[in-house]
Amino acid sequence: MKYLFLLGRNNELSKLEIYSFFNTEKISFKIISEKEDYLIIESKINPEKIINNLGGTIKIFENISISDFLNFHFPEKFIFKLDVNKELRKKIKEKIRNEHLKAIEKPNITPSQIHKLKLPFFEFIERENLIFKISAITNPNIFKELDEKLPFRDPKIEMSFRLAKILVNISGAKEGKVLLDPFCGTGTILCIGLEKNCRVIGVDIDEKRIKEAQENLRFFCEYKNIPKNFEVLNADAREISKYIKFADIIVTEPYLGPLLKKIPKREEIEKILKELYNLYSTFLFEASKILKEKMIIILPYFKLKNEILKLNYEEMFKKANFKVLNEIEYSQKNKLKRKIYILTLNNFTGTR
Ligand SMILES: C[S@@+](CC[C@H](N)C(=O)[O-])C[C@H]1O[C@@H](n2cnc3c(N)ncnc32)[C@H](O)[C@@H]1O
Repeated sequence: MKYLFLLGRNNELSKLEIYSFFNTEKISFKIISEKEDYLIIESKINPEKIINNLGGTIKIFENISISDFLNFHFPEKFIFKLDVNKELRKKIKEKIRNEHLKAIEKPNITPSQIHKLKLPFFEFIERENLIFKISAITNPNIFKELDEKLPFRDPKIEMSFRLAKILVNISGAKEGKVLLDPFCGTGTILCIGLEKNCRVIGVDIDEKRIKEAQENLRFFCEYKNIPKNFEVLNADAREISKYIKFADIIVTEPYLGPLLKKIPKREEIEKILKELYNLYSTFLFEASKILKEKMIIILPYFKLKNEILKLNYEEMFKKANFKVLNEIEYSQKNKLKRKIYILTLNNFTGTR
């Protein structure tokens, strides 16, 4: 069966997430087409089950024939969205009229609104001469509910659960693996690791953060009814090999410098970068002593009018024996620029 995956805002990241997830879960698939905002694959999946496991996919559609589309059996009342050619659109509208159906078209409806609808919802999309029917839609209300319910949560400064899910999926995390976040803050990444049945370890230099992470993780496990398979340590990431024997996977967003209201002057940036150099280079060296498989790390850079100011990450990775498998831009408008690096050790052979 052919499926179309409609991707979220950062589509490079979303594609990588899908490929990593399928590989980790050992679901065989063939890529039929890869475009900027969607992906068509051939596979055997349960879209409803898969959508909740992915952070970067908005909708999954399944391929249907034109005749199945034109003869689709609608209920008496429903809401719909159509993204097909003029002729097919006309035919469907005619069918609705002829069958005296009460149908409301909502071309701009959001996933969150769809999940709150009382009436059945249908969506059809046409791409590359194929017709697809909606099978599963991401539910942003799940993340919203978590943001509201967790004891310590400030989405303004913490990573979103959606991004944490994408990163943990890209890391190849799965049941039984040890996932470490050495700059864990209030534990967003760790929560997602627990959901994947990993054993998770969090480290943070700030005692307050560690207490908050502990409470968040305890709450999360009870809320999701999963084992409390976590440990959090108040320690310095620059010395983690003293406390932690090994981690299969590291997923982390370290300290990115002071919170900035506006982009500072060149001299100020150089000062920040110097401080970050010390932190990152020592941490990378420590991480190389305990890491078994992959590290996903978000690192900052600054953009002035005509130049980019950043640390020489490539050189730092090399010195600590890491090689870059992939790097993806992850910058939000008007915010500090960030890049996601996917790293592995030079001597990693694929097994532990
Ligand atoms: C960007 S925040 C992480 C946010 C986290 N991803 C979340 O969503 O809550 C960075 C964290 O690194 C911690 N930190 C800074 N320097 C550290 C160090 N040397 N070792 C360990 N943690 C450190 C800070 O206390 C802060 O909680």
